[in-house]
Amino acid sequence: MPEKTLPPDQRRRYLLAMLGAVGGALAAMGAWPLVRFFMPRDTGGAGSAIEIPRKDVPPGSAHFFDYRGRPAVLLQPRSGEFLALTAVCTHLGCIVKWQDDVGEFLCPCHGGRFSLDGAVLGGPPPAPLETFPVTLKGDQIVIG
Ligand code: FES
Repeated sequence: MPEKTLPPDQRRRYLLAMLGAVGGALAAMGAWPLVRFFMPRDTGGAGSAIEIPRKDVPPGSAHFFDYRGRPAVLLQPRSGEFLALTAVCTHLGCIVKWQDDVGEFLCPCHGGRFSLDGAVLGGPPPAPLETFPVTLKGDQIVIG
């Protein structure tokens, strides 16, 4: 039984088309991170306030949440007093951790330390943590 093969010209075109498709797909996959890097972040607007139930943040605790696409933290240092801050370290952008025992934030990357209101206490961070406005609305804490 004779084997069916494509003529050399057709085979060459087929292989070039396949090579082009694979090359195009690889180029698109490689370029995607660059495209995302240059896309503007969703920084929200006046209507981007979020609400967190008061019961989610007991006194002395920290509640981490997503605010305008970035990690943030809500604290209740004293009963009825709330603070909202970014959880992104101002040094190189690691996410800070809340330390209940000492009442301050620690950045796990290079040991940066921040007070509960975001002031730099030590380490390499060049600036305090950004704070966000907080208001109380019934049983909800409104941030932003
Ligand atoms: S990224 Fe936080 S101390 Fe370096």
